Amino acid sequence: MKTALFSPYTVKGVTLKNRIVMSPMCMYSSHNEDGHLQDWHMTHYVSRAVGQVGLIMVEATAVQPQGRISPQDLGIWSDNHVKGFAELNKQIKAHGAKSSIQLAHAGRKAMLDGDIFAPSALPFNEKMKTPLEMTKADINETITAFADGSKRAKDAGFDIIELHGAHGYLINEFLSPLTNKREDEFGGSTENRYRFLREIIEAVKDVWEGPLFVRVSANDYHPEGLTDTDYVTYAKWMKDQGVDLIDVSSGAVVPAAIDVYPGYQVGFSETIKSGAEIDTGAVGLITSGLQAEEILRNNRADLIFVARELLRNPYWARTAAKELGVEIESPKQYDRAW
Ligand code: FNR
Repeated sequence: MKTALFSPYTVKGVTLKNRIVMSPMCMYSSHNEDGHLQDWHMTHYVSRAVGQVGLIMVEATAVQPQGRISPQDLGIWSDNHVKGFAELNKQIKAHGAKSSIQLAHAGRKAMLDGDIFAPSALPFNEKMKTPLEMTKADINETITAFADGSKRAKDAGFDIIELHGAHGYLINEFLSPLTNKREDEFGGSTENRYRFLREIIEAVKDVWEGPLFVRVSANDYHPEGLTDTDYVTYAKWMKDQGVDLIDVSSGAVVPAAIDVYPGYQVGFSETIKSGAEIDTGAVGLITSGLQAEEILRNNRADLIFVARELLRNPYWARTAAKELGVEIESPKQYDRAW
């Protein structure tokens, strides 16, 4: 049988051998607060490439030190970070996977000493710090930091860049009316709340010609918050700006209970894919080959992002292939056992 899950996907000249993406997952394993990769990261990412994942996405990586969730986050705020990522990319690609990196700024969710920043001076909850409202200069510096991070990602040999616009981190904080109470041109109307992301995309595209993905939280799970239909508007604008794919997650912009069940975010992906006519990635409790195949075949997404199931099983691609009754390539050293 020919499957959708194991069919290639090409975007701007980059071909993934299948539709399986290792979803970005923070490992909080950098040492000395320097943002550098450790041996752990090499083992963690490269083992999923050996496991025949089509696209490895490196976890949320901070474009500025103040944009880390924790002091142990990876960083790409310095040219010194390029060498480690270049080595990681070499190893990932040696096993036939493509590589990507999620560029991030934690905004008001940064759990760091010192000042933290957000569109408005509102804490996430009573336990978290109150951020400083970003000045225009802070905004411009951050936009430049996303572009500089993209330039370094390019120098390190990544195939794809993803901007982290989800989960209540900085970009998401600008997009949502729950967290953005600004009265200048970066707040208020939908268009104004999009301005920060618009300018980041513009700045990134000045230095990066390759495929660009954006992860969004397509539902705030709050009566005054955004829903997937609001994100159709944002997705249309992103498409106009040359974004290639929306990676559709949800929630975490404000504390809210989320009803989680298999494929709980797939409907949001479907709404954005059909509403904005842009490629999407589906993520969230997708754990079987059949489930992934259903999503792709019914045009509910173009890529399948798998997070926790790939932590449990680095060979999930092989498991899914068996379930779907297809044979996939093995690392040649494993041929006899595959
Ligand atoms: C995550 N997730 C996540 N998302 C993201 O956009 N950037 C990140 O760095 C992280 N970090 C992270 C760490 C860990 C340990 C987990 C488990 C999750 C969310 C992740 O990518 C995914 O969207 C969710 O886990 C839902 O997918 P699964 O786990 O149900 O396949």
